[in-house]
Amino acid sequence: MSRHYDVDAVRKEFPAAERMVYLDSGFQAPLARPVKAAIELFLREGLETAGPKSVWLDRVEQTRAKVARFLGVSADEIAFTKNTSESMNIAANALPLRAGDNVLMIHGDHPNNAYAFLNLQKKGVQVDFLPMTEVVNAESFLPHIDENTRAISMSHVTFHAGHRFDIESIGALCAEKKLYFIVDVMQAIGVVPIDAKAIRASFVGSGSHKGLLVPQGLGLLYWDKAVNELEPTYLAAASLAAIPTDLIARPENLMPASSARRFELGNFNLPAIHALGASLDMIEQIGVQNIQNHCFDLGDHLIAQLDELDIRLVGPRDRQHRAPHIYVVDLPAAEWLGYFEESGVRVSPERDGIRVSFGMFNTTTDVDRLIELIRRRGRKTSSKAA
Ligand SMILES: Cc1ncc(COP(=O)(O)O)c(C=O)c1O
Repeated sequence: MSRHYDVDAVRKEFPAAERMVYLDSGFQAPLARPVKAAIELFLREGLETAGPKSVWLDRVEQTRAKVARFLGVSADEIAFTKNTSESMNIAANALPLRAGDNVLMIHGDHPNNAYAFLNLQKKGVQVDFLPMTEVVNAESFLPHIDENTRAISMSHVTFHAGHRFDIESIGALCAEKKLYFIVDVMQAIGVVPIDAKAIRASFVGSGSHKGLLVPQGLGLLYWDKAVNELEPTYLAAASLAAIPTDLIARPENLMPASSARRFELGNFNLPAIHALGASLDMIEQIGVQNIQNHCFDLGDHLIAQLDELDIRLVGPRDRQHRAPHIYVVDLPAAEWLGYFEESGVRVSPERDGIRVSFGMFNTTTDVDRLIELIRRRGRKTSSKAA
């Protein structure tokens, strides 16, 4: 049941959700039928009509337009990449940073975001980490900004405890202090509405195998085209403003495209992009706001049950600061993961417990099954924390 959409109909599109209690969308979404259909169409076209490639590329552009609409930006601000890591590396290396410049990040943020920036240390760029607290907003960053600070990079939602940081206030601070702002939305996208312009980010990076429902291997990069000093580190024919008609590469005319294509390298992951077109249609039909609200309701239900069992939630509890769909339960993963697996419940081990993460297809029945298993085993949290 959902107050927000017909979740039973949505659930039918995810056969895996019928076979097990799937509470692991923060790791990888199960395949949905419309996504599978889009990949099958690509395969059939490849087998029977060898494309043609122009049809496949038209679909790439349609998907690019859908991604742009989804993020509230224009299509020429969207590049397709391989995954979040690639998006963050492209972003980090496009920043005009020099030795002595400083980038701020949050300690314990996802390594696929952090290493892209830590690698800039080779250029003499300094990376400083703020402590991770339950709430991170502009005020958290302000005391750390000095005359050498050039950029802030962070995740919108944390993978390991479901914090949802106040990126709008941080974006406003970056605009005021003239800092580049780079946001990893991998754990937010598809569940938390994202308005890249309201965030005022220079770059937003993501993969697509969680809330966007696509198999692994496709990433996205939004680039604010107003920041046109940000140029690609790598170059391919597709990244150029003008590709020579005779396809002979010459030393002149290396100007990058005026669109986010400047950050794209070579041929696309066509089946995954086509799949993304189908999943975005699905998400837009339900409404990302509705998905968010449904997941919040599931989270409220989970928290109430955990309270009854006197089991602590590791991350933030209130809706203002928590992600709708990611909850870490204070149960030692080494003792509990195998038990859940044997009982047909898929969750993830995390730094501080067991991560329960919802997708658009989950229902309170899934939560109740998890709680029943915890009750049956009859063990409370091993931690005495509040
Ligand atoms: C915040 C965050 N960033 C990035 C990733 C993944 O990075 P990539 O898309 O490069 O595999 C994850 C999870 O896998 C994540 O939770």
